[in-house]
Amino acid sequence: MLPTELEKKLSFNRFISVGDLVIVYERHDVMKAVKVCENGILQNRFGVFKHESWIGKPFGSKVFSNKGGFVYLLAPTPELWTLVLSHRTQILYIADISFVIMYLEIFPGCIVLESGTGSGSLTTSLARAVAPTGHVYTFDFHEQRASLAREDFAKTGLTSLVTVGVRDIQGEGFPDEFTGWVDSVFLDLPQPWLAIPSAGRMLKEDGVLCSFSPCIEQVQRSCETLKTCFTDIRTFEVLLRSFEVREERLQSWQNYTGGASQKFRKKRQRSSDGSNVVEGSATCTTVLAKPCSEGRGHTGYLTFARLRCVP
Ligand SMILES: C[S@@+](CC[C@H](N)C(=O)[O-])C[C@H]1O[C@@H](n2cnc3c(N)ncnc32)[C@H](O)[C@@H]1O
Repeated sequence: MLPTELEKKLSFNRFISVGDLVIVYERHDVMKAVKVCENGILQNRFGVFKHESWIGKPFGSKVFSNKGGFVYLLAPTPELWTLVLSHRTQILYIADISFVIMYLEIFPGCIVLESGTGSGSLTTSLARAVAPTGHVYTFDFHEQRASLAREDFAKTGLTSLVTVGVRDIQGEGFPDEFTGWVDSVFLDLPQPWLAIPSAGRMLKEDGVLCSFSPCIEQVQRSCETLKTCFTDIRTFEVLLRSFEVREERLQSWQNYTGGASQKFRKKRQRSSDGSNVVEGSATCTTVLAKPCSEGRGHTGYLTFARLRCVP
């Protein structure tokens, strides 16, 4: 694929056409990926949406159903794809992914090795980070998973940036052809210590490795192996705390004079909009911010290490 075509694929400032993948967004926690077809129809609780009315509209458009309900049509960015992809395995989420890309020092043009591919959640972001001239070589020993991942990369327009291989990386290591050639390696494997010696051989001098493990015992074992030829070994747990910020009407007490007996003498009345108000109080609008209850807890530990240069 030519760089200009690639830029077009990765650009979000373009118009929707037949064959495009769009993210149909209802709310931050209700969205799905839909392929636009000439006679396609989307039906949800808001009514029926005809794809033909989407064609030619820019990504980000608000579109209406036959009943006047609406959804937004968003570009399939790696951030949104991670939220809608089909989970064939456990996946990495945005907080870990962002941290991985930063600490693996990935930029356009980098060559990255990954195993296992899993559902391709991380791979999608790696691909965008190395575009347009770099490449991600990702390996999974599960043939069907590898093949479904390939299909997903085609849907999201990343085929030219990602190659999926079927290989037992813990048993056989990475293919020799990558020796001393790659900028970064990412491992999401059950026994990463088995793949670390091979990963070390693949890295350029000064290259960085990251291993994701859900259990601290796996981290300890990996660190023992890393010590043999890596330096700057560090482990992180990334915890994300999201907030809900909204305007709310509150009642403030006017006649509060203090003292236990007088405190909050309430007489409930109905206001014109039907809500309860209290005599002696006034309403005011204020902005409330509270942590979301659905906050994701522990996902895993990220261990980073830099290949030691042998003089
Ligand atoms: C948790 S998933 C990876 C998820 C991925 N990081 C993502 O964000 O979608 C782990 C994957 O490693 C693969 N795997 C396990 N052992 C492997 C091995 N020895 N060689 C290659 N892949 C392996 C599994 O098939 C599985 O797909």
